[in-house]
Amino acid sequence: MIFNEKNLLDFKNSFELKSSKELLRIKNHEKNIYQSIQYSFSTGGKRLRPFLIFYFGSLFNINEKSLFDLGMTVELTHTYSLIHDDLPAMDNDDIRRGKPTIHKKFDEATAILCGDALQVIAFSNIVKSKNISDNHKIKIIDLLCECSGLDGLISGQSLDLKMIKSSNISKINKMQDLKTGALFKFCFVSLGILKNLTTKEIKLLEKLSFEFGKIFQITDDLLDFNGSFKKVGKKLRKDINKPNIAYKIGLDECLKKISSHKNNFMKYCKKLGFNDKDIINIDLLLNHVSRRDF
Ligand code: IPE
Ligand code: IPE
Ligand code: MG
Ligand code: MG
Ligand code: MG
Repeated sequence: MIFNEKNLLDFKNSFELKSSKELLRIKNHEKNIYQSIQYSFSTGGKRLRPFLIFYFGSLFNINEKSLFDLGMTVELTHTYSLIHDDLPAMDNDDIRRGKPTIHKKFDEATAILCGDALQVIAFSNIVKSKNISDNHKIKIIDLLCECSGLDGLISGQSLDLKMIKSSNISKINKMQDLKTGALFKFCFVSLGILKNLTTKEIKLLEKLSFEFGKIFQITDDLLDFNGSFKKVGKKLRKDINKPNIAYKIGLDECLKKISSHKNNFMKYCKKLGFNDKDIINIDLLLNHVSRRDF
């Protein structure tokens, strides 16, 4: 399947449309929460996680409707994690995607509840899916618990808050795997579940996810270090005393690390048996992710 900027943009537009329709389903609930959820989705974002599900899911010939359900679930989880990440008690950020963060646009209590609600909706979206079998649902929910919970995102976020710039690289690596890599694990491994892949193949998907997570988070750290506010849409140069890998090892070492994670990612893709044409396009996708300026 071809990867280029246009199909990424087409996907993003179609995801925005479908997700806004999907969110209408919760319209008759408490107004303040509904409005904050609407706002959190209306500010855009790259929609990279649903795109990965769509792109790799298409390579696996998985039907689009179930891919959308998985994509919606991961984006709901991701959005909740950003809302809580921005809270004063966490990273204390006022701007995301060039717009006021939820606690600035509404208030702190609303931001906490909005995040809580999104997390629950992420799970219920799988439970209620008409496109995923019951057998697969149980496995996917189990995976989501693992990736978004104590074996993933939440522990990673907790470590991030406790760590300092002088924390050693292996601790930073672990923290990045948990806070960022784990949600990418959900993206890739959920496809393996739907496709009934073998344990060995699922293990390859898991390994590949953490390589992707590293590429993604090192690039995010680099953007805080040398990005432009106008493009990134977040306040930058904030991570100077945090366990941000870019401040720790500098640009050149980060680029070397990214290149080695890309090589590993491609190695696992080859082991999974993607054909030469797909490998070329996957390589383009990785270049897009690691060379992004937003
Ligand atoms: C930001 O994620 C949080 C990290 C894990 C680094 P994204 O850069 O994917 O955020 P949006 O959704 O595109 O705004
Ligand atoms: C956040 O990492 C990772 C999450 C799981 C939310 P960051 O704190 O670096 O993300 P940004 O830079 O605020 O988007
Ligand atoms: Mg953070
Ligand atoms: Mg943050
Ligand atoms: Mg960051």
